[in-house]
Amino acid sequence: MTTGMWIILDHVVALLSIAAWFTAGVTLALRRTRLALTGLVAAVLVTLVRVGTLAMLAGRGWWFVQEKVLLGLPLLGAAGAVAVLVAGPQLLAVRRGRAAGGSARGVVSVFTAGYAALAGLVVTFLVGYPLTVSAALITISLVGAGALLTARVVTAPVEDSADAGVAQAPEDRRAISRRRFLGWTGGAVVVTAAGAGTGLSFLPTESVTRGGGPGRSSRAAVSVADLRGSGSPAPGGTVRRQVLTAKKATVRLPSGREIDAWTYNGEVPGPAITANQGDLIEVRLHNADIDDGVTLHWHGYDVPCGEDGAPGVTQLAVRPGADFVYRFRADQVGTYWYHTHYASHVGVHKGLYGTLVVQPRDGQRADEHSTAEQVDLTLPVHTFDGTVVIAGGDGRTEHFAPPGAPVRLRVINTDSDPHRIVLAGTPFRVAAVDGRDLNQPGEVSDVGLHLPAGGRYDLVFLMPDTSVALVVDDDRDGGVRLRPPGDARGEARVEDTSDLPELDLLRYGAPAAVPFDSRSADRHFTMVLDRGVAMVDGKPAFAQTVNGRGHPAIPDQLVAEGDIVRFTVVNRSLETHPWHLHGHPVLILSRNGTPSTGSPLWVDTFDVRPGETWVVAFRATNPGIWMNHCHNLPHAHQGMMLRLHYDGVTTPFGGSHGGSPGHGH
Ligand code: C2O
Ligand code: CU
Repeated sequence: MTTGMWIILDHVVALLSIAAWFTAGVTLALRRTRLALTGLVAAVLVTLVRVGTLAMLAGRGWWFVQEKVLLGLPLLGAAGAVAVLVAGPQLLAVRRGRAAGGSARGVVSVFTAGYAALAGLVVTFLVGYPLTVSAALITISLVGAGALLTARVVTAPVEDSADAGVAQAPEDRRAISRRRFLGWTGGAVVVTAAGAGTGLSFLPTESVTRGGGPGRSSRAAVSVADLRGSGSPAPGGTVRRQVLTAKKATVRLPSGREIDAWTYNGEVPGPAITANQGDLIEVRLHNADIDDGVTLHWHGYDVPCGEDGAPGVTQLAVRPGADFVYRFRADQVGTYWYHTHYASHVGVHKGLYGTLVVQPRDGQRADEHSTAEQVDLTLPVHTFDGTVVIAGGDGRTEHFAPPGAPVRLRVINTDSDPHRIVLAGTPFRVAAVDGRDLNQPGEVSDVGLHLPAGGRYDLVFLMPDTSVALVVDDDRDGGVRLRPPGDARGEARVEDTSDLPELDLLRYGAPAAVPFDSRSADRHFTMVLDRGVAMVDGKPAFAQTVNGRGHPAIPDQLVAEGDIVRFTVVNRSLETHPWHLHGHPVLILSRNGTPSTGSPLWVDTFDVRPGETWVVAFRATNPGIWMNHCHNLPHAHQGMMLRLHYDGVTTPFGGSHGGSPGHGH
């Protein structure tokens, strides 16, 4: 069973235990002793099962159980034990006919166990990892308050009669005053704990984590505004100038469907930017009428930080009527893309994206690569209102390819959710992932490829003399077809692709040397991803959190130039999080404790699925302040975003907690 399944199973068992404790409590209050006894036994058994599921989860990582083991389970264990000790003997006595019914104490104790069980689950959903003293105090006080209120309700009739001055036996009066004393002291304890818990939650928190490395040095500061790209191409390279105008436009898809899009130059996707290695790319971004503002972020391309397009961090958002010129040398070959980084959960979704492909210097010229010998297609996949649009085409698109021609399909996921990619009709290789070539990628066929949000796969093969289909999300009617010219048989039928197994890239290709010793690291940061109540942009929200916090209250990760940095990324939630670091590719070291054994895998986005734990590393060689976030862009907007901050780098564009950084607003 995967960790994700254990997480779900544990939630189910937790729900059952809540149900069992409350059933026992209600039936006991109604004096249905037989049912109450059954309920109590069931509650105890389910609680014991819970110990088992938690032990299993703990084996997958402390992050998955911390708040349950430190708070939920002890609280339930204590309350449950009291309930059994108080209500159990009473119920047994009734059953043997030696008593008439359960007492108020029994009812209160069983209900309190129910509150404890409920509180444990609520803490898991609202707080998660890490558990804070503040959250623990508030939880305990709430359970205590529940117990006191229940006691009040259950014993009210007796007390009311006391208040009404009804004559009572002295022992009754003594019992009542003792109960009142207990109620008052209990109330005082509850209020104190709640107050302390609430107070603690307002304590200032760290704004930086060091990951075990040294803290800030007194290095002379450099501003991101000065970390700009080179003004000239490499010898022999050219300057590729382009103007991208961000504007609203109605775009007509090939099917005739029209979409109200936000575009670069009125096109969706925006103009394809191509270059040869060593060329200088110079793009003037002009904002015509996108009121919110726009930027250009070169996704996966390790530009100097000042060209990175992160609003509030590396520049200010480009407002309507304004311009910003991006300039960087295309030293990395491969498949990339660009998109706005301002309110990107809206802007990218609506169409502010395009492709960036850099060809090797000794290869063909980028602007005339579609020769008869070579088919090189760039295929960004984007979803508009439920319609998958591939490279601007909806429905099925066709291309011709002569048999024997080397073909490269550059598939880019510009959506916020993963896509499943199948290439049917030919064996192929995954030549590159996220723009970086794999080492000795083997030939595969009949496999599905899981393409994370933001990710790219370059698929290469020799064109057979029959047609080939690129199938996205197992939709056999859509996708892309390659057909040999004059193939009179038309296209071959595509078989059902939904059962094909998924290719595991951590075991694909051959190992090779990597440029640093991945066993050692100068800094290590753990990011536990979840949902919970947290502040996002200064407002409380049911946020997408990193270590229990939301942007911009998640501490910056401090690194120094040259550091080897390791990330452990843990997904406690039930959603997939495509983790994306700007400015650096990361090397995948392991997933769920199993080391990567295939080709070195350098990526800029890796999908951390529910219950998964990934360990990756990189060397800090690109000074700046870099966004580090979930590339499910709505998640980033809901708080799942932080910054990797090089020692000695400053920003004039917002400061660590000011302005409107990143995707927000
Ligand atoms: Cu493709 Cu910060 O994003
Ligand atoms: Cu996410």
